[in-house]
Amino acid sequence: MDKKITIGLLGAGVLVVSALIPVLAGGCSRADAADLALKSPNGQLVLNAGVDPQGRLFYTLADKGTAVIDTSYVSIQAKEGAVGQNCKVRKVSHSSKDETWEQPWGQEAKIRNNYNEMVVELAEEGKDLEKFAVVFRLFDDGLGFRYEIPKQNGLDSITIMDENTQFNIHEDATAWAQPWDHEYYEAYYLPSPVSKLDTVATPLTMKLTDSLYVSLHEANLIDYAEMNLTPEKGTTRLRSYLTPWSTGEKVFAALPLKTPWRTVTVAANPGALALSHVTLNLADPCAIEDTSWIEPGRYVGIWWGMHMEDYTWHSGDKHGATTENAKRYIDFAAANGYSGVLVEGWNEGWDGEWTMNGDKFSFTKAYPDFDLAEVNRYARQKGVRLIGHNETAGASRNYEAQMDSAFALYNRLGMNTVKTGYVNMMLDGKELHGSQYGVRHYRKVVETAARNKIMIVNHEGVMGTGWERTYPNFMAQENMRGQEYDAWSPDGGNLPEHTCTLPFTRALAGPMDFTPGTFNFNNKAHPGTHPQTTLAKQLALAVVIYSPVVMSSDMVENYEGRPELEFLKSCPTNWETTVIPEAAIGEYVTVARKERGGDNWFIGSITNSKSRDAKVKLDFLDKDATYTAKVFKDGFKADYRTNPYPVDIETMQVKAGDELALNLANGGGAAVMIVKNKPAGNPTAKN
Ligand code: NOJ
Ligand code: CA
Repeated sequence: MDKKITIGLLGAGVLVVSALIPVLAGGCSRADAADLALKSPNGQLVLNAGVDPQGRLFYTLADKGTAVIDTSYVSIQAKEGAVGQNCKVRKVSHSSKDETWEQPWGQEAKIRNNYNEMVVELAEEGKDLEKFAVVFRLFDDGLGFRYEIPKQNGLDSITIMDENTQFNIHEDATAWAQPWDHEYYEAYYLPSPVSKLDTVATPLTMKLTDSLYVSLHEANLIDYAEMNLTPEKGTTRLRSYLTPWSTGEKVFAALPLKTPWRTVTVAANPGALALSHVTLNLADPCAIEDTSWIEPGRYVGIWWGMHMEDYTWHSGDKHGATTENAKRYIDFAAANGYSGVLVEGWNEGWDGEWTMNGDKFSFTKAYPDFDLAEVNRYARQKGVRLIGHNETAGASRNYEAQMDSAFALYNRLGMNTVKTGYVNMMLDGKELHGSQYGVRHYRKVVETAARNKIMIVNHEGVMGTGWERTYPNFMAQENMRGQEYDAWSPDGGNLPEHTCTLPFTRALAGPMDFTPGTFNFNNKAHPGTHPQTTLAKQLALAVVIYSPVVMSSDMVENYEGRPELEFLKSCPTNWETTVIPEAAIGEYVTVARKERGGDNWFIGSITNSKSRDAKVKLDFLDKDATYTAKVFKDGFKADYRTNPYPVDIETMQVKAGDELALNLANGGGAAVMIVKNKPAGNPTAKN
């Protein structure tokens, strides 16, 4: 039935397009349609779709014969009519793709995009909105599907009131997710049975069995509303809930419409889940022709000082963003190989209740004690770039009115990165960040920045869905409880298990601006609050938590003379490849990464509140080489509660196949740099 015709070779891959399935074309019986099946390239994942006797469209998913998703219905309710509720299959077509594409930056240089696709075209005859299609793509690491609604019967736009996409999870699995309406996704991913979940944001990660992990999310969210999930009446049948406009509608869509992809990532273990490529593969390819100006890097910032209340964002005696202070940070950056310096509180608008007065922010006018041109000149002369900060307090219209000229100004001055912020639950006083209104705004910022050669680090945004593939100037997002909670959170700081959970939950949505690297845990303003880690774990987080731009969080004076700084300043932010030899969600994880364009490896291993003896087999090293490993690990009696600071620094020779024993303290970690030795007898050879 699935007759395939090879039509050509595309790069590394083969494009195979099948003939249409004639038996289904031109109106088939519903029973025939229920046979629609699709397999992943390795045959392990199997999707079945169909239309039930009531005319409802459904799908199921199995992994190596084990049910993952039971019968799940999908439909869209628009003002103009519904699709998916009383339909017939018109046509089915199959195709395949196998290509490899390169990322300008990432956890891996090359990504294989290998899938089998099935397009099911459906009709609900006699209605205004009668035609639509569902496109299913099955990869070895998961499923993506989306809805396509063409122009029809004089309709060139529709108003979507509801999307009912179901994920009927086979098990009442343990799920890690957070409430959809928590501010800026800055909640914990707490484990809960699927059936007991609140309405949650995605990624929603689940452990179905010891060898079956699944994460639900979306990809390529553009000009649509974010998808949240909620279990139906205490069951394991999750249903989509689109973030609404303040007026209740979900999406105003022009036709033809292609919705974002709904994704189901499937893996045998947490490490494989964290390294899945479903989201990136489903995002649109790179839209920037010349990406040479996009540079991963490491930065410090006039930042922790405000969170610790040593400085203020606003003007006055304690103003952090002064010309003098910025130069001090630039000097530190230049001396220690940091590429950037973030400066917050440099611009007018911070005085008074700034979170309620976003319209007052100027993105071009500096406070009188901060000479924007001079600080940039000084930075450029020292080989460092200033990273501008644009806090909007959610006033997105005010930002849109200024951002073109602001980005052009920054570019002229030599700045190449802007950190954006939206501290207000509502955009422009009334729309949710995850609404179509919010999605449109955040996308416009990234596109405007790309035109002006500006990289974006976004805080308080909409959850990532792979935009960094299309716009690689979209570097990282916060959208999580980051290190700032270790400065002022009344609960004392991030729990030790939090960073052992993020790589398998939030990280599936893209790079995280967590900002690890706090060295001084004393906190005058909030004495009970500090990182709930050892110092060695702060170092390890620089490897474990992926971002192409990594800020070392602390005030620069806290790094002076500290031998542990060597690890932070040596650790790259762009990688050739990544392996995760061991992980248990919320408990521990070890990540090993090989630097892009080099031979050296970096390892981060962390644990939750329990101590742990990690054993890392170095089978990823080159077989014919030797390496010098420098290990930064928890020292004598280190403990995150009572004795966080001791770090032992040890150097040793290692080779492929050796086992590295890393003893992690309670709440501890270890960070390792593994540098390839030059071949003996040829000391000048490039390593
Ligand atoms: C919250 C952000 O997450 C933080 O990084 C920033 O310093 C403050 N808002 C002020 O904009
Ligand atoms: Ca934040």
